Amino acid sequence: ENIPVADLLADPVEKIEKVNCTPHPAISLPSDIFEPARRNSAGLDLNDSQILEEVHESIRNFELPPRPEDATAEQVSEMIDTASLAFHEWSDLPVETRAAALERLADLMQEDMIPLMGLCAKEAKKTYQDCVDEVREAIDFCRYYARRARADFTEMPLPGPTGETNTLRLEGRGVFGCVAPWNFPLAIFTGQMAAALVAGNTVIAKPAPQTSRIAKAAVDLAYKAGIPRGVLHLAPGGAEPGQALVSDKRVAGIAFTGSTKTAKGIQRTLAEDDTRPIVPLIAETGGLNAMIVDSTALPEQVVMDVIASAFLSAGQRCSALRLLLVQEDVYDRTLHMLAGAMDTMIAGDPVDPATDIGPVIDTDAQTKLNDYLQRVRERIVHQIDVPDTDTFVPPSIVRLSEIEDLEQEWFGPILHVTTWKQGQLAETVRRVNALGFGLTMGVHSRIVDAADQVANEARVGNLYVNRSMTGAIVASQPFGGERLSGTGPKAGGPNYLPRFAVERVVTVDT
Ligand code: SER
Repeated sequence: ENIPVADLLADPVEKIEKVNCTPHPAISLPSDIFEPARRNSAGLDLNDSQILEEVHESIRNFELPPRPEDATAEQVSEMIDTASLAFHEWSDLPVETRAAALERLADLMQEDMIPLMGLCAKEAKKTYQDCVDEVREAIDFCRYYARRARADFTEMPLPGPTGETNTLRLEGRGVFGCVAPWNFPLAIFTGQMAAALVAGNTVIAKPAPQTSRIAKAAVDLAYKAGIPRGVLHLAPGGAEPGQALVSDKRVAGIAFTGSTKTAKGIQRTLAEDDTRPIVPLIAETGGLNAMIVDSTALPEQVVMDVIASAFLSAGQRCSALRLLLVQEDVYDRTLHMLAGAMDTMIAGDPVDPATDIGPVIDTDAQTKLNDYLQRVRERIVHQIDVPDTDTFVPPSIVRLSEIEDLEQEWFGPILHVTTWKQGQLAETVRRVNALGFGLTMGVHSRIVDAADQVANEARVGNLYVNRSMTGAIVASQPFGGERLSGTGPKAGGPNYLPRFAVERVVTVDT
């Protein structure tokens, strides 16, 4: 169905009703630009308790397929051969063809919602709610980028003051390497791949080694949706395919989500060879994300939002709250309430729908986090028990003396807390800024000026006032940071696709 151009150019945000900010804001995707993702393929309502039980049963019984084999450096090079050959034909297609393929992929993911959730639960150890959000976000990325592409990739006439005609158009860059993380193994993997493809690039997609089955499922659905096999290639594995991909001179752009250290390594590799074109890197990395609470904040809301931001998804979100900064006058009361709320959280098997917090991704992550907790055990002010099976890490609160004592991003359910004094709000934000990261920040205050002051000082990509600070929604909260947290542009935002493209202007004298 053709959508009128004026409709396409309208800012989609204007069309979205207000989102009710619950700890799982993605549940209430209200937008008319997305399919209502509340329903699965059979038109079944996931809010119906009987249906829900059947869904839980299917996920519990889901059996993981075999892991795809890791790609060797030689295989990656062959994929780049094929993707280079396929580039012109793919890039020359009308944007509508590529956008329609993304929408078909969204439909197929919606039809396969339950097996995709099963994969996310069993391979990435995601809780039921995180599985729902994961599949929905992947679908939203496909639909949103399809829609944006139709606007961005339409030729734009420019003024011709001396009588010439000027036209601006965007075109794919070539072979794009997409390197995805394990923490959003379907959503981010699909988002990168979908953006690069719809912009006219051919793609080599390298998932994290921990979640290559989920990536394979996404790529298989993309083929089913009509993306040609020469255009999209899956390169599972770790350092070998990763290094082969970023160091190959024929790769024209890299989209990467992962650690700051790896992003810097990729940046160095891309710049190494003087004969290689200047290759753009779109990097989304980590954060030392703080939430600032003043004495006017609503305590119950603070507690709910801290729990959601720091501990859900076992703290394995780059947006997650790492450092809670409480005005000293309300510190004791806030910590007391927070400890009480933590005691009600259920840590358990991710496929049990009652579970709030599942295990962390693997034993490496578990060992690092538990070693850290052991090292700082004297400073742990609250902790809850977790099962001693699987790779659990106990959700913990660690007291710091100073903001600057936060050593690094600990990617798990560990929250650091410290205090600040009345009159030092702006200074507190500047000290957080000085940690060097710039991804998310939260502020809880009922004084409008205080929230404004934080908004003015904060050097972060996503600032959340009086709500949780995770779970950005495609199109409503474009997501991504600055400085050590990434290069931009923001995923799920209106400026994302052009960075996957080159701009060309044609001037014709008349
Ligand atoms: N987009 C996710 C969030 O907002 C993090 O990657 O939580």
